[in-house]
Amino acid sequence: MEKPSEENTKNEPWDWKEYYELIGEKGYTKNLEEAVNYCEKKDFALDIGAGNLRDTKFLLSNGFEVTALDISPESERLAKDLNDPNLTMFAGRIGEFDFPEEHFSLVNAQGILFHIHKDRFDIVFDKIKKSLKAGGVLCADFIGEHDDWNYKDGIKYILTKEDLDKLKQDFEIKSLHDYEADESEETRLMKAVYKNKPDYNAKHWHHIDIIAIKK
Ligand SMILES: C[S@@+](CC[C@H](N)C(=O)[O-])C[C@H]1O[C@@H](n2cnc3c(N)ncnc32)[C@H](O)[C@@H]1O
Repeated sequence: MEKPSEENTKNEPWDWKEYYELIGEKGYTKNLEEAVNYCEKKDFALDIGAGNLRDTKFLLSNGFEVTALDISPESERLAKDLNDPNLTMFAGRIGEFDFPEEHFSLVNAQGILFHIHKDRFDIVFDKIKKSLKAGGVLCADFIGEHDDWNYKDGIKYILTKEDLDKLKQDFEIKSLHDYEADESEETRLMKAVYKNKPDYNAKHWHHIDIIAIKK
């Protein structure tokens, strides 16, 4: 697969509006139901790359005080409209967020971690890890080595077997779902975002969904 010409790890804000509308039909991430059950306390949660707030709303309805973080102005607008006193919106890039230490009982990160530049991933992930309390829950999805975005000189973060082993040093994995797909539901959604970019019109996905508890 050709290397795509742009990455949203650069500074351009993407138009995620149509993606948000389409993914809205899907409801919240199913893994979150299980993840929430591992939380000793349902107090503070962080939703990284919160998008249309589908997961943020699920967390709010489960009694969490949620910080939603997203670079998209549309996500910020949706948060304003929601006007929930238990929601704090950080409208900016992950790298700009001042992660509090040992604060969150749950961190949710769906469809976002692979957008982090692979050379910066360890720095960002260390902040995510430190922001969780001991016993805190990470609910996240990654892309794996068989994904089409794992091309030579690519900059997207790929979760390798070695990285997974490293992750296991700090986290107890409660659930890991490793699966591959062509023309998946995600392809339909990505087409909405990357309309004019043929590289994104069809791709092979290698998803790795995890729920993990910080040791
Ligand atoms: C694939 S969408 C996933 C949205 C949501 N988590 C969901 O599952 O519906 C990725 C989201 O990450 C946001 N995003 C991408 N790069 C970002 C960055 N560097 N900092 C903060 N948000 C980012 C986008 O604006 C978009 O809302």
